[in-house]
Amino acid sequence: MRIVVMVSGSGTNLQSIMDAVAEGQLNVEIAAVGADKPCTGIERAQAAGIETFIVAPGDHPDREIWNRVLEAKIAEYDPDYIVFAGFMRIVDAALVARFANRIVNTHPALLPSFPGAHGVRDALAHGVKITGLTVHFVDSGVDTGPILAQAAVPVLEGDTEESLHERIKVEERQLLVQTIAQLPQPSN
Ligand code: GRF
Repeated sequence: MRIVVMVSGSGTNLQSIMDAVAEGQLNVEIAAVGADKPCTGIERAQAAGIETFIVAPGDHPDREIWNRVLEAKIAEYDPDYIVFAGFMRIVDAALVARFANRIVNTHPALLPSFPGAHGVRDALAHGVKITGLTVHFVDSGVDTGPILAQAAVPVLEGDTEESLHERIKVEERQLLVQTIAQLPQPSN
């Protein structure tokens, strides 16, 4: 199974995928790692000898064109699945349709609660006692697609957004790898 992993930041979820592949625990080929900007995730992929690409919104006249360029770039690698591992961009409905039920996202909250870019901050602000993470297929909404797996993480007294997010990410790295391992081979 071939995957393309998309990142925007530190890339620790990507690292857990790369480590699982290197250790023989995850039987996938990482065809490429892409990002919307230069970031540590891209550096991690380069250090591992994986092909990388950057499609930055600012390098394109508008969002529509950015989406089409990104879609074409991903398609070049002919992936079975695309994994959004901390990819902090919303892609349009046409891109989602092109890769229907093949884009997997990880979100640091228990969806459908606290969708969007600040899931950890919003859960903390709401005062929930349990939050967690969700691995789900991407549909044309924001964090609304079919849920593949979830794990709960308790909110502790005195938690900050950073401390809570760090504990969520410990679980997230494991669950993302497990979920990818269980994806069915798409029929095409
Ligand atoms: C993850 O918690 C992901 O769910 C969120 O951003 C974080 C990315 O972390 N959207 P990393 O770049 O994998 O370290």
